[in-house]
Amino acid sequence: MKLRHFVTFMDLSGEEVRKLIRRAVELKQLKAIYEPLKNKSLGMIFEKSSTRTRVSFETAMIQFGGGAIFLSPRDTQLGRGEPVEDSARVLTRMVDAIMLRTIAHRTVEIFAEHSRVPVINGLSDRFHPCQVLADMQTYFEHRGDIRGKTVAWIGDGNNMCQTYIHAAQQLDFKLNIACPQGYDPEIELIQQAGQHCTLTRDPFEAANGSDLVVTDVWASMGQEDEQALRIKAFANYQVNDELMAVAAPDALFMHCLPAHRGEEVSASVIDGPQSVVWDEAENRLHAQKALLEYLLLPNPGRRIGD
Ligand code: CP
Ligand code: NVA
Repeated sequence: MKLRHFVTFMDLSGEEVRKLIRRAVELKQLKAIYEPLKNKSLGMIFEKSSTRTRVSFETAMIQFGGGAIFLSPRDTQLGRGEPVEDSARVLTRMVDAIMLRTIAHRTVEIFAEHSRVPVINGLSDRFHPCQVLADMQTYFEHRGDIRGKTVAWIGDGNNMCQTYIHAAQQLDFKLNIACPQGYDPEIELIQQAGQHCTLTRDPFEAANGSDLVVTDVWASMGQEDEQALRIKAFANYQVNDELMAVAAPDALFMHCLPAHRGEEVSASVIDGPQSVVWDEAENRLHAQKALLEYLLLPNPGRRIGD
């Protein structure tokens, strides 16, 4: 079986993502005990905090009959300067897969270059592919295939936004991004996306007629010092009832969480009828189970009921 990683959303074709979503929905409905990863272990390196990513991967491994090992730089040799390359060489001779949440995206890439087992990006400064996989599952469950639909990204051109740029290309939807000046996603990513992506300063223009409205915090992890500056810069980029009113009447609202009510999203929207954020959070578990199965097992779908 060829070694596959999930470092960015581009590591899976649109066809593969659709297959994984179907499988995630199937696994979500499965009531029987199903332990395809018995005796297998997932190493999880966290350079940053996490609630959803840690608990969903750890639960996925428990439910699949295996186990997950939480590794923090604080209490491993990674925090004392052992090179990433060496850590990758050593850890991947022991565990069956590795999930990393890193400050620098390059760390995930270096790890993958020296790994013997699948490497999964659990968030870096540039991308958050596992979250967008769960977002896509959530959209498909509520509204069907996202092909040809319009998604509005409102706010920071951050790791989530940049992963949506990839997803728009792989799943063939239109992404309208509205960011304040100085907070754009990487220009090369927008250029690569071609017709799939537009960039504006006007959130109402981006949200107009859209089928899905997505936002994220204004200051990501590691940007806490810029919080005050960002609150000013993003003041006109709140997703609220006024903005949702220009989207399609059946538009959904998503946020990867954690959210700051009253900043990037009003309480009325995130706690309102168009919000699917709790399904989105739950789907981290199901989408990642489908991903683990896909990366670790040959012919995963056939194993149910064996
Ligand atoms: N959305 C997300 O990745 O959440 P955590 O930071 O809690 O893992
Ligand atoms: N953009 C956010 C996402 C958190 C899940 C961050 O990087 O902190």
